[in-house]
Amino acid sequence: MTNLFLDRNLALEAVRVTEAAALSSSLLMGRGDEKAADQAAVNAMRNFLNNLNINGKVVIGEGERDEAPMLYIGEEVGNKKGPKIDIALDPLEGTTITAQGRENALSVIAMASSGGFLHAPDIYMYKIAYGSKFNDLNIDPESPVENIINALSKHINIKNENLVVCILDRPRHKDLIKSVRKTGARIKLISDGDVSAVIATTIEDSGVDLYIGSGGSPEGVLAAAALRSLDGKIYGKLLFENQEQKERANSMGITDFNRIYTTEDMAKGEVMFAATGVTDGTLLKGIRIKQNFATSHSVIMRSKTKTLRYVEAIHNLEKKPISLK
Ligand code: FBP
Repeated sequence: MTNLFLDRNLALEAVRVTEAAALSSSLLMGRGDEKAADQAAVNAMRNFLNNLNINGKVVIGEGERDEAPMLYIGEEVGNKKGPKIDIALDPLEGTTITAQGRENALSVIAMASSGGFLHAPDIYMYKIAYGSKFNDLNIDPESPVENIINALSKHINIKNENLVVCILDRPRHKDLIKSVRKTGARIKLISDGDVSAVIATTIEDSGVDLYIGSGGSPEGVLAAAALRSLDGKIYGKLLFENQEQKERANSMGITDFNRIYTTEDMAKGEVMFAATGVTDGTLLKGIRIKQNFATSHSVIMRSKTKTLRYVEAIHNLEKKPISLK
């Protein structure tokens, strides 16, 4: 067992990685170019990661090696001088959000001991997530959504009308939205960014109680990594669309295609999670730039102690110019 997570300094180093990615991509906020915003975040994150004293391997990254030249699944990162760790990352969670200057884009990274993260293929995952106010209630994630909503409301003795369910605004969620509306629960539809939405279920005054619907499976693992420190629960089920996806998952070690993954199944052992706001959001403010200074807002979480550390950093852009290359 590595001593990695006893090393608190690494947590602070991790936040420098997300700060760099967030700063770089924020320069492209609202410019309508998703690719450029993502690439700026990837370049910055990779540069900073490679300076860390770790022997890291990307297990949740930008995609398969043949489709993502940087931070692909399996890429080794760090200067190889430190412990062996697995890394789940998304340099820019919310590429469209950033390109459109909307809310809740984040730069995120999570670290665990080798084998700590589910090696999830980049396909859709059905996710249900809620926070600790539901007192550790266990649900059957495959039961009809009406039953889940009723169970949650009953458990904390509130009316369904007092529950807010966050759902990605997608045509594929038409029936889900209809079913939720039938229960009387209220809905917050979001355009993108379900890592932030899942985390929001654990934040007291976020106005969101439950997240439900399908989104990216890498985002599911990243959200699970955060929830390990936030006492939230996420259930995930991989949604295979064809045989090729099953074969890919199989090559990543997945044999039970119907399995429901819990928070711990997706992110186990000691886990560290760091995020920096790119645009303003529920969890964090976005990057602010004034003349030669940029201010970033980040959070670092360690599952071992469940400490949440918020870091506001002021970057002197004359000393540390942000590069888009
Ligand atoms: P990107 O940052 O990769 O664009 O992902 C944004 C996102 O909204 C995720 O938060 C979510 O899991 C996924 O896309 C949903 O996928 P889709 O847009 O195909 O519905």
